[in-house]
Amino acid sequence: MCGDCYGASAGGAAEARAAGAGGRRKRGCVGTALALVALAAAAAVAVLEGTAGGVSYVGDGWLHECAKWDADGGACSCPTSSAPAWKEKEEERVVLADPDVAVRVALGLTVDAPRGRLLIVYAYRIPRFGYSAVAAYELTSWCRLFLTRLDGPGDSTLADDVVVDDEGNAYVTDAKGNKIWKVSPEGEPLSVIKNATFSQRPGWINNLVGLNGIVYHPSGYLLVIHTSGGDLFKVDPKTRSVRVVEVKGSLKAGDGLALLSPARLWSPPACRLVESDDDWETAAVTGRYVGPAHRIGSSATVKDGDVYINHIIGFGLGKKTHVISKAAFAPL
Ligand SMILES: *[C@@H]1O[C@H](CO)[C@@H](O)[C@H](O)[C@H]1NC(C)=O
Repeated sequence: MCGDCYGASAGGAAEARAAGAGGRRKRGCVGTALALVALAAAAAVAVLEGTAGGVSYVGDGWLHECAKWDADGGACSCPTSSAPAWKEKEEERVVLADPDVAVRVALGLTVDAPRGRLLIVYAYRIPRFGYSAVAAYELTSWCRLFLTRLDGPGDSTLADDVVVDDEGNAYVTDAKGNKIWKVSPEGEPLSVIKNATFSQRPGWINNLVGLNGIVYHPSGYLLVIHTSGGDLFKVDPKTRSVRVVEVKGSLKAGDGLALLSPARLWSPPACRLVESDDDWETAAVTGRYVGPAHRIGSSATVKDGDVYINHIIGFGLGKKTHVISKAAFAPL
């Protein structure tokens, strides 16, 4: 999972607004408040390229849940409550701050490159489970395309991560209710994928955090990790069939996933490389990356064939230093 990203005001949002304000205001260009941070394009490229180990930058917030590489924009994006971009000491700058979700936290995000959009999941800070939503923003203007509430009245949910399929449908995991919401490219809630198979193991300790990281496989199915139980599921969104992938090795505490290739998956925070040679009927943990020991990996992203790991907690007095490190795998 998914800590939260803490809410704060965003100083640098004016720049992002300026970029969006000239165009058609769809349903509200984003204003000030909380949300997402994109690391300025050119600078982020320079930094990623310039340091073999990845990127480190400073900002105001403690918790940064997720970072994704945006190949077209050349920007790396991560959600948080306050501000990123890169300056001398690689300072963060807020480029997107949506006032409609100001008291929530941003969790998983995904770049939907074919449609030039960024999707972000929002929820309340734990331990409140009364709000789950997914929003989409235009990458060029940061205008919001939709903000869709996912939970119903009285539901106990925690929207956690999101991925899109080839047609632009979004799939959002519910780490509390163990289900997957499907949302159309226009933001309409379409269906909910629920299955008893998602709750493999009894006991609260095995269900503290449920469905979490999710990826869309090019063969047309979803791979989803259950954090506390450590189970990996293969889900066909068309038939809604759910299978447990038989994994050799442990995936306990698995968080945001990244698909390195159709047969290779990366799972933080224990930094495991998982491989399958039979289209994810079975798989094995084959490699491990040892990152900064005092930091916790929470999401992974792929840039030019390399995996970069976002670490959730920043350190420091005053400004917090955050690290997105390049993973070099050691075979097990
Ligand atoms: C759950 O998945 C199993 C196995 O794929 C399938 O047979 C069953 O119909 C599914 N249940 C629901 C409620 O969709």
